[in-house]
Amino acid sequence: MVKHSTVTSLVPMTDAEFVAYVEAAIPAYAHDKVLSGQWAEAESLVLARQEYVQMLPLGVGTPDQYLYTMRAGPAQEPVGVLWYAIQEQAGKRQAYVYDVLVHPEHQRQGHATRAFEWLEREASARGLAGIALHVFGHNTGARDLYTRLGFAVTNVNMFKPVAGAVAAGELQEAPALCTERLLLEPLRRGHAEEMFAVLADPAIYDFLDDGPPASVEALRDRYTKLETRCSADGSQAWLNWVLRLRGGEAIGYVQATIDPGRRCYVAYLLSPRYQGQGYATEAMAWLLSHLAEEHPTPVILAVVEVANAKSAALLRRLGFEEAAAGQPDSRGLTPSERLYVRPGAAAEERS
Ligand SMILES: CC(C)(COP(=O)(O)OP(=O)(O)OC[C@H]1O[C@@H](n2cnc3c(N)ncnc32)[C@H](O)[C@@H]1OP(=O)(O)O)[C@@H](O)C(=O)NCCC(=O)NCCS
Repeated sequence: MVKHSTVTSLVPMTDAEFVAYVEAAIPAYAHDKVLSGQWAEAESLVLARQEYVQMLPLGVGTPDQYLYTMRAGPAQEPVGVLWYAIQEQAGKRQAYVYDVLVHPEHQRQGHATRAFEWLEREASARGLAGIALHVFGHNTGARDLYTRLGFAVTNVNMFKPVAGAVAAGELQEAPALCTERLLLEPLRRGHAEEMFAVLADPAIYDFLDDGPPASVEALRDRYTKLETRCSADGSQAWLNWVLRLRGGEAIGYVQATIDPGRRCYVAYLLSPRYQGQGYATEAMAWLLSHLAEEHPTPVILAVVEVANAKSAALLRRLGFEEAAAGQPDSRGLTPSERLYVRPGAAAEERS
C-alpha cells in the first residue's frame, strides 16, 4: 500500500544537484540500454553521455526541460529526481517524463506516486494534453507503478533470440529480472571486471574451498563458458545471475546447475559488505520460484560447509532440510560438507 504519511515536494534542481544527478544517471541509463539489447556494453557509456549532453546542453537552464529534486520529511531531505520536458506530439502539447527516480532507501514510500500526482496537476495547469514516458521492459517495478497510476501502453518493442545465437556469442541479453531491491542479470563475460572486485574480498572464502579468481582475464574466460548456459556436451544447464542493487553495484551471484539426472544444485555468494540485510534470502527465494516456473526438477540440493551456520539457516528458512547421512550424492562431499535437500516443483506437481 502506498504510504501517504509524508509530503513530497518538487523543488527545481540546483546546478550542483544537476551535476551529481547526471554523473549517476549516465551509467544507469547505459546499463539499461545494454540490458534491453539496444546498445553494446563497450559503447554504452559514451552513447549515454552523448545523449545527456544533447538533451540538456544548458543543464537545468535548457529550454522546455524541467528538472526537479524530490524532497521530503521535516528536513526536506532529497529523496529523488523528476525530469520532464514539454513536447508537441501529433499536434498536442504533452509532458514527456525523461526520468523519475527515488533513491533506494526512500523507495516504496509513495514518493514517485506523489511526484506524478503533482505532475498531473502541473500538466493540467499548463494546458497540456497528457503525460507520456518510456519504460524499459525489464523494469517491472516501474511498469507496475505506471499501471497503477493509470498509464496505458502505447508501443511495445519485442525481441526473441534465434537458435545458435548463444554459441555465436550473439545472444541479446535475456531480460534481467527484478526482486524488490535487486536486479538479477543473466551472467555474461562483460560482468568479469565488476565481479572480480566483488570476489576479491578474502572474507568470502572462509567457508569455500577455492580462493579469489587469479585475474580479470581468468574470470572472463570462466564467464565466457558460463554465459552459454550449458556444458560443452549440452548435458548440464548452467544458470547464473549476477545480483545487482537496483540502480547500483553488483553485490554477488546466484546459480543453479541442473545435471542430466534432473538434480538441481543451487549456490549463492554475497559480498560480505551486504550480508545481514536479507539480500541472500531475497535472491534465493527468487531463484527457487524462477526454477519452479522455468526449470522444474524433482529435487533441489545445496552443499554447505558444516561451520557455515548462516548459510545453513538461510537454506532452512527456504524450506531445505539437511539430508540424512548416507544419502546418495553425486558430488562426493568432503567430511566438512553437508548436503541440504528441498523438493523441487516437479516433485510438488506429482504430490
Ligand atoms: C520506479 C521508482 C521511481 C518507484 O519509486 P517509489 O517512490 O518507490 O514508488 P512508490 O512508492 O510511489 O510506488 C507505488 C507503487 O508502485 C509499484 N512499485 C514501485 N516500485 C516497485 C518495485 N520496485 N517493485 C514492484 N512494484 C513497485 C507498487 O505497486 C507500489 O506500491 P506499494 O509500495 O504499495 O506496493 C523507483 O523504484 C526507482 O527510482 N527506480 C529506479 C529508477 C527507475 O527505474 N525509474 C523509472 C524509469 S522509467
